[in-house]
Amino acid sequence: MDKLVIDGGVRLKGDVRVSGSKNSVLPILAATLLTDEPCVVRNVPGLRDTNTMVKILRSLGKNAELNKGVVSVVSSKNNSLPRWVADYKLVSTMRASFCVLGPLLGRFGEARVSLPGGCVIGIRPVDLHLKGIKALGAAISMDSGYVYAKAKQLKGSHVYLGGVYGSSVLATGNVMMAAVLAKGKTVIESAACEPEVEDLADFLIKMGAKIRGHGTPVIEVEGVKRLRGAEHSVIPDRIEAGTFMIAALVTRGDITIKNMVPRHMGALVDKLEEAGASLVKSADSMRVCYKKQLKPVNVSTLPYPGFPTDMQAQLMSLMSITPGISIITEKIYPDRFMHVAELNRMGALIQREGPHAIVSGVKKLSGAPVMASDLRASACLVLAGLAASGKTSISRIYHLERGYENIERKLEGLGAKIWREKE
Ligand code: EPZ
Repeated sequence: MDKLVIDGGVRLKGDVRVSGSKNSVLPILAATLLTDEPCVVRNVPGLRDTNTMVKILRSLGKNAELNKGVVSVVSSKNNSLPRWVADYKLVSTMRASFCVLGPLLGRFGEARVSLPGGCVIGIRPVDLHLKGIKALGAAISMDSGYVYAKAKQLKGSHVYLGGVYGSSVLATGNVMMAAVLAKGKTVIESAACEPEVEDLADFLIKMGAKIRGHGTPVIEVEGVKRLRGAEHSVIPDRIEAGTFMIAALVTRGDITIKNMVPRHMGALVDKLEEAGASLVKSADSMRVCYKKQLKPVNVSTLPYPGFPTDMQAQLMSLMSITPGISIITEKIYPDRFMHVAELNRMGALIQREGPHAIVSGVKKLSGAPVMASDLRASACLVLAGLAASGKTSISRIYHLERGYENIERKLEGLGAKIWREKE
C-alpha cells in the first residue's frame, strides 16, 4: 500500500481545476439502469468509487466503460446474470451502491441488493430508503444481509423522508428513481436539497422523467411509462472545491479554484468570510487568499444549504491553527471525528465532547506519521500536512483515492511538496 508524504510549510499559489462531483455521478450512473437505451455521462472523475459503480453496472447487465472522464453505458446482450441482484462483494465496498435499489425495482419490478456496511463515520442506516420504497407499494424482505424488494407495479404515493438527522441525500435519490416509472404521482416531503440531488433529477428529466421541485424540500414526480437514454455532464464537486479553498488558507496562500459553482458553496463561504478570509467569486471560479490572521468560528453541520458535514474535517484543520477557541458540532454523523486524534498527534489541541469538538488554535502543527480513516478525514490530514512544519506521512490513502481525483498532481501544481512512498 502507498502512503502520501508532505513536506509542509509551502504557501500554495496558482489555479486549480475541480473535477466532477463524486456524490452526483454515483446515483446518476445508477439511474442508467432505468433504461435499456445507451447513456453517456461526462465530467466523471476517475476515482475508486466511480470505478466501483462501473463494475456494479457491469454486474447488472450493462456494458459500462469509464474512459477519459466519460462513462458510456449500453445494455449488454448476455443475460446470464439476473439483472436485478447487486452482490455483497461490490455493494459492501461502497455504501452509495445501495442507490441501485430504486432503479432496479422501478425497471424490473424486483431488486435484491446487499445491505451496505456501516463505516467509521456512522452506522449508516437505510430505514428511510426502505420507508420510501414501501410507500410506493413494494414488498420488502431481508435475508442473509440482502434487501429483497418486489412490486408488480409501483404506485405513486406521498412520503415524508425526514429522519432523526434530517433529510437523506441517497434515500431521496433512491425514492425519486423508483418513482419515475411508478403509476401516478409521488410527492417526497422533507426531500434532500443538495445540488447532487438536483443534478440527478436533471439527468432523469433528460431521460424523459417528469419531476418538479428538485433542490427544494418537496419533490413531485409524475410517473411515465418508460425512459430513454440521455447524455449529461455532471456538476463540479463542491466538496473538492471547498477542500482547495481551505488549502489556500491553511498554507497562507492564494489559490483560484476553477470550474466550480460558487452558489453551491454558500455556507462555507459565509464561515470563511466570518473568519476573515478574502474570497473573490466569479461565475465559475473563486479566488481565495489569506490576507490576515483569521478568527476562530463556531459551526454546526446541517443538511444543505447548511454547513456540509463533508467539509467538517477540513474546516477543523484550519481552526486547529487559528488562535482562539472554535466549537465544531457534527449534527449529521455525531461520530465523524476520527481525524481529531490524528490532528492532536500533529500538535493540535482538540477536545471531543460528544457531537462537539472544542478546538483551541495553536501556532503551528508539526509533521508526523498519521493514518487516514475515511475519505474526508484523509483530506483533513493532507491539509494539516500542508500547513505543518516538517514532514507528514499519511498511510491508508486508499480512503483519499475514493473521492479526490489526482489530488497530488493538483497540489503539486500549486507548489506543494508532496509525493508517494511505499508503506
Ligand atoms: C451522502 O450520503 C453523501 N454520499 C455523503 O458523503 C454525505 O456525507 C451525506 O450524503 C450527507 O450529506 C454520497 O452522496 C455518495 P444521508 P448518504 O442519507 O446519502 C441518516 C462523502 O464523504 N440516515 O444524507 O448516505 C444518516 O445516518 C460522503 O463524500 C438515516 O437515519 O447520507 C445520517 O445521519 C460521506 N436513515 C443522515 O441521515 C437513512 O435511511 C444523513 O445521511 C439514511 C440516512
